[in-house]
Parts: sequence; structure tokens; C-alpha cells
Amino acid sequence: MISIDLTGSVVAVTGAAGGIGSGIARRFAEAGATLVLHHHRGDAPVVDAPGGSRTIRADLTAVDGPASVVAAAIEAFGRLDAVVNNAGIQPGAAFMDITDEDFELMFVTNVTACHRMTRELATHVAARGGTGSVVHIASIEGSHPAVGHSHYSTSKAALLMHARAAAVELGPLGVRVNAVSPGLIGRPGIEEAWPEGVGRWLAAAPLGRLGEPEDIGDACVFLCSPLARWITGTNVVVDGGVSARNTW
Ligand SMILES: NC(=O)c1ccc[n+]([C@@H]2O[C@H](COP(=O)([O-])OP(=O)(O)OC[C@H]3O[C@@H](n4cnc5c(N)ncnc54)[C@H](OP(=O)(O)O)[C@@H]3O)[C@@H](O)[C@H]2O)c1
Repeated sequence: MISIDLTGSVVAVTGAAGGIGSGIARRFAEAGATLVLHHHRGDAPVVDAPGGSRTIRADLTAVDGPASVVAAAIEAFGRLDAVVNNAGIQPGAAFMDITDEDFELMFVTNVTACHRMTRELATHVAARGGTGSVVHIASIEGSHPAVGHSHYSTSKAALLMHARAAAVELGPLGVRVNAVSPGLIGRPGIEEAWPEGVGRWLAAAPLGRLGEPEDIGDACVFLCSPLARWITGTNVVVDGGVSARNTW
């Protein structure tokens, strides 16, 4: 029997109060991990984690935001084994309307914060010895740009390259870095709010449904587990097969 048991591993999930982040956190809790649940503006996330949990509020665009998440893990549990860089922004805007400020906010949130977090985890793992794992939540839009999302798509493409580049340099330190690229993930009310988008997705989806946050969580749990011990610098597309088909 092969199963994933992360009992004793301390895993930080950023944006754990959000739609996908809460699903990722639930799946790590079900795998037995001890959780550090990062949140930003709203209420602290509540996840029933038998391995224990700690919440930490931080603006990850602040220079010391990512470091505060790693510090909270070490203070509460004495170590941090893995980080899922899930927090991100995804506003829509036409290409010609995107200002320099819009572009910079997109990059500091979706890319720079993930770089700082990766560097902080690698520093901790290098100091204590052993191994660590980072998963960036990218998007299929990092490979397939969507109209009205050029700054977002560009940031996710950068994040995909960041995972590969970091994997090359951090492997010798014992840190694996991978990306997960979700397709369209359902949330309450999405069918009513965006019927044409959901309809287009369903028409293109070989597996015939929207994704669920737990679909992304399962990929993250696998990538942070010993089963993925020889996997680094890769991008796991979790989109029900939509990216596999032709686009014309
Ligand atoms: N939903 C999809 O279909 C889909 C598809 C592909 C990829 N993704 C990616 O999946 C990730 C999660 O998306 P989601 O749909 O679950 O969105 P979401 O519910 O809005 O969650 C995003 C989280 O990021 C946090 N965040 C944003 N700016 C932050 C900052 N400056 N500092 C700290 N935290 C910040 C948000 O906190 P606040 O709200 O408190 O600011 C929120 O909890 C994102 O990286 C997104 O690009 C989503």
C-alpha cells in the first residue's frame, strides 16, 4: 500500500483563507501535516488540522511579509518543511488600460513575494539541514494568455520560470521547487456570475467539469511528499485536460 502521510511535516499555505488556499490547507490537514495558515485582510482561516496549526496575518507585498510567515512557523513549531505560494491577485484589465502601477502590483504580489518566500525557506533549510519543498500556484494562463489578463498571464509565466530557475540553484541545498497550474476552479455563484465563461470551459473540458480547490490541494500534497522526492523544476497542469486540446 502506498499512501501519503505528512505527520510531523510543517507546511505553510499562503492565502489560506481564499478559495483555492482553503482547499489546499484542508488536504494537507487530511494528510496529517502541521499547518501555518497565512491570511491577509479577512478573518483568520479555520482548518481542523490534527497535526496542529497556527495562523499568521501578513501583507506579502511588504518586504518582510514572507519572512514573517517563516518566522511564525519556526516560533510555533521549531521548523518549516514546505511552503505553498498560493496567495495572488487576478484582476482583469484590457492591455491598453494597464498602468505601470497595475503591472508593478501584479508582479510584487504574484512573483516577488514568492521569490522572497522561497529564499526564506531555503535559508532555513540550509541552516538546519534536511530537505524542503516549495510549490508555486501558477495558472494555465502562464502558458496560454487570456484576453484582459495580460499582466496576470505574464506574472504567472514568470512564476513558472522562477520555479525552474530556483530548482536548479536550490537542489544542492535540498530544496525542491515546483509549480502547479490550475485551470478554472469553481467557487460559489460562479455559474450565475459568469455563465458564458463557465459554458465555454465546460464545452472545452475533456473531464467535463470545473476544478475544485481540493484538486489543486492533492497535487500540492503529492509534490510536498516523499513520493515526489526526485521531482523538481516541473509544472503540474491540473485543468481537467483543457490545455491538452487544440485552441482553434
Ligand atoms: N480561481 C481560479 O480559477 C484560478 C485558476 C488558476 C490559478 N489561480 C491562482 O490560485 C491562487 C488562489 O486563487 P483563488 O482563486 O483562490 O483567489 P482568492 O480566493 O482571491 O485567494 C487569493 C488569496 O491571496 C491573498 N492575497 C492577495 N494579495 C495579497 C497580499 N498582498 N498579501 C497577502 N495575501 C494576499 C488574498 O487575501 P485577501 O483577499 O485578504 O487580500 C486571498 O486570500 C492565485 O495565485 C491565483 O492566481 C486561480
